[in-house]
Amino acid sequence: MTKEVVILGIESSCDDTSAAILKGQKILSNVIANQKVHEQYGGVVPELASRAHQQNIIPVVDAALKKANIKKNEIDAIAYTNGPGLMGSLLVGSSFAKAFAMGMNIPLIAINHMQAHILAHFIDEGEKMPSFPFLCLTVSGGHTQIVKVESPTKMEIIGATLDDAAGEAFDKSAKILGLPYPGGPLIDKYAKNGNINAFTFGKPKIKNLNFSFSGLKTSILYKIQDEVKQHADFITENKADLCASIQHAIVTILIEKLQKAKTQTSINQIAIAGGVSANSYLRNELKLIAKQEKFDLFIPKFEYCTDNAAMIAIAGHFKFINKDFSTQTESPSAHLLF
Ligand code: KG4
Ligand code: ZN
Repeated sequence: MTKEVVILGIESSCDDTSAAILKGQKILSNVIANQKVHEQYGGVVPELASRAHQQNIIPVVDAALKKANIKKNEIDAIAYTNGPGLMGSLLVGSSFAKAFAMGMNIPLIAINHMQAHILAHFIDEGEKMPSFPFLCLTVSGGHTQIVKVESPTKMEIIGATLDDAAGEAFDKSAKILGLPYPGGPLIDKYAKNGNINAFTFGKPKIKNLNFSFSGLKTSILYKIQDEVKQHADFITENKADLCASIQHAIVTILIEKLQKAKTQTSINQIAIAGGVSANSYLRNELKLIAKQEKFDLFIPKFEYCTDNAAMIAIAGHFKFINKDFSTQTESPSAHLLF
């Protein structure tokens, strides 16, 4: 029997420092250190993020190795996020990975963060995985894309946001409601007790598979400003209904475009990925539609939705098979494309 490849994955593109150990396609550990320091600023402060990564990276890798019960010399390759992301944050992970690869004399594998979100579907959890080709709605704090996935290494973006990402739409709406960063999970939480039809907001009129969320954000802002002028406690008294209505508006935009992409491509396998795929309303609505319209739906395990190194390691696994290695001179790129 051939030995299963062991990969150390490193993720540091934004504000989470993460290390994971993957053996074959199974995750042995996936350790994530969140950075609480940004909460008070209403968004990620890049300089603070890179400093926190610097402090977290060694303890996080150490914890991942211990949890997986793997020794450094058992690792076959190290995969790291090469972009897109915040430059200072990317530099911490990439420098660590380069030093580790050189010190251990093992291959170095550069990973595109957005492709890794999609490939998280191939982590072996004993569940059915998508087969190729499939469509993936990749929704995070920085990106909103519909991707046609032909193979682990061949992907094409067929729709993307023209302005804000879906995660940003959640976070900026949350900020208007006075909620701390990141507001997406909080909107999800408060929406559970609210009425999705309590408020209606402007809808974008983009004809192709692209998205736009900036108009919605403005519509939410004006509506709330008008109401607060007349009644100071408007937000507190209507928090659940506001969250449910905002969430419904964002999720409806996402689902309508995904359905359009499905019709246009005749691809009947749909996946979601990225931080916003953790949203319970999006997950539940898609499950209902998949049942009605009889298509295969793939939703990642909760811990593989938001940023994590397990997805970097699985993306590394496929590149390892193709011997697609990187070099010590490769620089991370904040706007890395597919
Ligand atoms: O993929 P991710 O962890 O980081 C990026 O690569 O950007 O995504 C983070 C985004 C944030 O905007 C956060 O508010 C959003 O995902 N998010 C959610 C939920 N959990 C995370 N948005 C809505 N509902 C959630 N449950
Ligand atoms: Zn992400």
